[in-house]
Amino acid sequence: MLLCYATRDGQAKKIATHVATRLAAKGIAVSSRDLATDPPSPAELAAAPLVAAVLAIRYGKHLPQSARLVEALAACNAAPPLVLASVCLTARKPGKDTAEGNVYLRKFIARNGLKPVLATAIAGRLAYPGYRWFDRLAIRFIMWVTGGPTDPSVTVEFTDWAKVDAFADDIATLCAKTTK
Ligand SMILES: Cc1cc2nc3c(=O)[nH]c(=O)nc-3n(C[C@H](O)[C@H](O)[C@H](O)COP(=O)(O)O)c2cc1C
Repeated sequence: MLLCYATRDGQAKKIATHVATRLAAKGIAVSSRDLATDPPSPAELAAAPLVAAVLAIRYGKHLPQSARLVEALAACNAAPPLVLASVCLTARKPGKDTAEGNVYLRKFIARNGLKPVLATAIAGRLAYPGYRWFDRLAIRFIMWVTGGPTDPSVTVEFTDWAKVDAFADDIATLCAKTTK
């Protein structure tokens, strides 16, 4: 299967790597692809039994390189089943971690006419010290509004790794179905 990711600060890549490792341990061959540097071609997509994408959010949108996957899928005659995961801080809140409850994911699916067989939102990482001053200001404001940490010296990984494991296990189940 193909596992694509779009990352800026590394958390979506970390999640994708975790998923790939868990799938490999179950004997599933995974080709991991960074959408910024190594996006799959339509032909590669067509040859894959399943495509999963782990895509980070910045300022309300999936990273621009996510469009490369959408374009390749659109150009694919027989697109394989698609699995999506958005990585963002909003998903740290219960109810905002589903395809229905997460507005970024819901809009992304609708705007691009996607029909994922599985879609979820996974909480990412907050790392104030590494942000540029404007980003730090903007994220502190969002955290203040949503009741999150505002101390500019903190780094907090909100990712629920048990949820990531469950996500990987769901992908494994889908792989077993598609390769039968
Ligand atoms: C500049 C900036 C803007 C962000 N905008 C949002 C946002 O609009 N909504 C949200 O839920 N999270 C937002 N985040 C949080 C990121 O989605 C989170 O840090 C995620 O882990 C980033 O993934 P990456 O490390 O793979 O780039 C933002 C983070 C940064 C640094």
